[in-house]
Amino acid sequence: MRYLVTGGCGFIGSHLAERLISLGHHVCILDDLSSGHAANAPCEAELVIGDVTEEAKVRAATDDVDGCFHLAAAASVARCNSEAIATNRVNLVGTLTVLAAAARRNVPVVYASSAAVYGANAAVPLGETSELRPLSVYAADKLACELHAGVTSHLHGIPTVGLRFFNVYGPRQDPASPYSGVISIFADRLAKRQELTIFGDGGQVRDFVFVGDVVDALVASMAHRRSGAFVCNVCTGEATTILGLANILADIVGAPARLAYGPPRAGDVRVSVGDPRRLAKVYGRAPATGLRAGLTALLHEDAETSPAPARAQRMTASLTAGRT
Ligand code: NAD
Ligand code: UD1
Repeated sequence: MRYLVTGGCGFIGSHLAERLISLGHHVCILDDLSSGHAANAPCEAELVIGDVTEEAKVRAATDDVDGCFHLAAAASVARCNSEAIATNRVNLVGTLTVLAAAARRNVPVVYASSAAVYGANAAVPLGETSELRPLSVYAADKLACELHAGVTSHLHGIPTVGLRFFNVYGPRQDPASPYSGVISIFADRLAKRQELTIFGDGGQVRDFVFVGDVVDALVASMAHRRSGAFVCNVCTGEATTILGLANILADIVGAPARLAYGPPRAGDVRVSVGDPRRLAKVYGRAPATGLRAGLTALLHEDAETSPAPARAQRMTASLTAGRT
């Protein structure tokens, strides 16, 4: 099969592209490299550098595909709050553009939604029918993506699957940006023996899910797609506070965590723990990697999964060969 992976140079998208290739599929990546890196893309993938809101580019990239995985987005809640208009364009208009191109080709779309759609709903655990109370620009846009996926399925008959990822972690999550996920930032700072900043009191609760389990869910969603629009949590059901996370990481690294406290982030969700039962029921497997095991794998595999210079050179060659 041939698949489009938007955002395939990013954290989750590059792991997905790798898996699809290892399963024998052909992968075309569309990415504007705004937060991803070309060297993250597997050498075997075709790489199109472009913006997911550019209709012509998206149409060309979907020309002969059997399905679309749509992951390209501005993934930081904090950045979306401070750059609402620019990120709305990427997160919502980008999704609409992919949905329209897929409808034209009559192919399914599996796209990244988010646990952020539950927002102020602090029920534990959050099931897919729980009330949605977005607290941020990012969350409102992800919810709008789900609504548009439903409308596209209704109007054009293509299957769509929205996966509500909870907090994803694993190798290749870039700690360089202040907008990175908390685990990549904390792991990087601990390794450099720097202090960790806790936004608020550190009592925020998250459900951390390992990237390999997320890729399992993405691949299964495309393989076992149903008709119509479907949404599903991708989570473990395991609750961890941010302070608890700092302690577990410090324990694995074997260095004490020095903490500094900053003001809470605007639009930050307080409690986010998902119910993984729908995922387990529909696809036969819920995320299985426990947090400590996943963090240990992350801290020990980091060096192996960073792009090596030779890999980056091969990427440049394949980039030149790819459609632009
Ligand atoms: P990431 O920033 O590592 O990857 C996003 C990729 O999209 C990057 O390679 C970036 O360059 C690309 N991109 C951004 N804007 C683009 C544009 N206009 N056109 C083309 N490419 C563009 O983020 P990630 O953590 O891998 O997230 C992937 C998806 O999963 C996103 O949709 C995000 O909202 C969603 N998600 C992530 C998490 C998480 O915990 N990481 C949780 C829930 C949902
Ligand atoms: C994350 C994802 C978002 C996804 C959502 C789903 C990233 C960048 N964002 O948002 O795409 O939709 O999960 O639940 O992956 N924190 C600190 N100190 C730090 C960094 C963060 O205390 O240095 C705190 C934050 O205030 C927050 C928690 O850690 O309470 C998690 O933050 P972050 O990793 O940025 O993720 P979310 O905002 O939950």
